[in-house]
Amino acid sequence: WAKEAMARAGVPTAASRAFDQFAAAADYARSRFNEGHGVAVKASGAALGKGVAVCSELESAMEALERMLVHRELGEAGAEVVVEDRLVGQEFSLLTLVSDGRFFSLPVAQDHKRLLDGDEGPNTGGMGTFSPVDWVSEELVQTTEDQVVAPILAAVPGYRGVLFSGLMVVDGRPFCLQYNVRFGDPETQSVVRRLGAGFAEALSAVAQGAPLPPIVALDNCAVTVVMASAGSPGSYTKGIPIAVGPLPEGV
Ligand code: GLY
Repeated sequence: WAKEAMARAGVPTAASRAFDQFAAAADYARSRFNEGHGVAVKASGAALGKGVAVCSELESAMEALERMLVHRELGEAGAEVVVEDRLVGQEFSLLTLVSDGRFFSLPVAQDHKRLLDGDEGPNTGGMGTFSPVDWVSEELVQTTEDQVVAPILAAVPGYRGVLFSGLMVVDGRPFCLQYNVRFGDPETQSVVRRLGAGFAEALSAVAQGAPLPPIVALDNCAVTVVMASAGSPGSYTKGIPIAVGPLPEGV
């Protein structure tokens, strides 16, 4: 649905198709590899950060399709999948407040989605972020607002709230990977530390649909690192106490 909305709005995004049958999805993935692309396999439904497999080999794409469409490991969330061309570049996230027909983007953050050092693990919802992002210029943010933010907002007149745009920059051009209508996690933990006067007033204005007041962006830096239970993003133990100092006995 989101990919169709992006196409209708003319938003730059990777070529893709949606499938609910393994054979057709596998044929399409194979054809994309034959044409020299990798693919990302994405569950159409919400899957708590477990629904995306970024595949540089056909074998891993087939495994992801089998897990979702044949073994139904993600349940209904994976009953339909999107197979999209893998974009290779650098990611950044743009959080934009929208109210009263205007929008204002907060300082950008870069999310790192793969588990383990060196990006060697599976994709997650996000293992850490930082802000600012030195390779994202003001011009790139402007282009992103023009090509990714403004067109989708024009397609949903009257929307107010937060628009999260997840971007992949390829050869200097931003491509939309995803939108969310919420703040990003863990982007927000880095971004809010860089906001000064006006942020609370802006949130209040958004809640009321009033014009956005100016928000001061601070000249500082922030980093967020996620600690995750062993096994994440698959099955993992929950409820482990988090404490400063030695862990309680038996944990
Ligand atoms: N960190 C990505 C997200 O919040 O969707």
